[in-house]
Amino acid sequence: MPWRIGPAARAGGARPDPYRVWMSEVMLQQTTVAAVTAYFQRFVARWPRVEDLAAAQDGEVMAEWAGLGYYARARNLLACARTVVRNHGGVFPASALGMRALPGVGPYTASAVAAICYDEPAVVVDGNVERVMARLFAVLDPLPGSKPELVRLAGLVTPDLRPGDYAQAVMDLGATICTPRNPACGICPLLGVCEAQHLGIAAELPRKLEKAEKPVRQGVAWLATRGGLVLVERRAERGLLGGMLGFPSDGWDGTALGAPFAADWQSLGEVKHTFTHFHLILQVRTSDSDANPQRGEFMQLNPDDLPTLMRKAYDLAFQGKTPR
Ligand code: ADE
Repeated sequence: MPWRIGPAARAGGARPDPYRVWMSEVMLQQTTVAAVTAYFQRFVARWPRVEDLAAAQDGEVMAEWAGLGYYARARNLLACARTVVRNHGGVFPASALGMRALPGVGPYTASAVAAICYDEPAVVVDGNVERVMARLFAVLDPLPGSKPELVRLAGLVTPDLRPGDYAQAVMDLGATICTPRNPACGICPLLGVCEAQHLGIAAELPRKLEKAEKPVRQGVAWLATRGGLVLVERRAERGLLGGMLGFPSDGWDGTALGAPFAADWQSLGEVKHTFTHFHLILQVRTSDSDANPQRGEFMQLNPDDLPTLMRKAYDLAFQGKTPR
């Protein structure tokens, strides 16, 4: 993982860079290491220091984040970088408490950065750590109610010695061995001390309260083209896909503005996408009328700048060809 400093480099005096560790931890929330790595590489190549990121245009950062999802993270990333530069002289606070005061930095990220960068014995609990603790201590109560107990237990086993290496090791254990289904207990370093494994119930833990089925929402997106340009709009900062580029659309996100102009819109079919709290079926319609739009702007569009939902609509409309 490109944000890590290995044991040999560390022994030679190298320290993890808080900027890189912070960025990796923000990206790794709700997202796997495999999905994050290429994004991380592009971000730190383009903006090597927090000052560079703080000076970036909002639209550039949102475009670079496109496809990674949970776009509030990207808006917070930028707000946090600007706060670090403006209020802290470009230096990240060297404690979990100090980190916690930054925009968009929650208890998990604050603890992770403090442990990894500054060897603060902060208690780092993500979904992987919850699972490892639930099994290690055979916690039978279901999540989310059992979360405070899992945090308490995580605190009991967090060491003062190398807490950063420990935090990353437990997360790695959860990602590779103590996996949600079919945990590889036979090769687990905690085999002898794991309560759930002893009871033969490791794979059943942590228990989770059944979640309600996600509802299905319907919407419409209007893809208008004009001489190779595509009609796009910047979405509102707050709300779904906030701050991202998108096609005029409605019916699924609390808006009901209708088509961006009156035209003979052609129906192209639908795309499906799942958000945290609902499934979406989005009807895709096109037109190459030259009526004036009531919203959005005709632009040369790089489809890589689109969030995944809008990219699906784009791909349905243009099938790998450039818009004409
Ligand atoms: N998931 C989130 N942060 C991580 C880290 N630092 N190492 C491994 N997995 C992680």
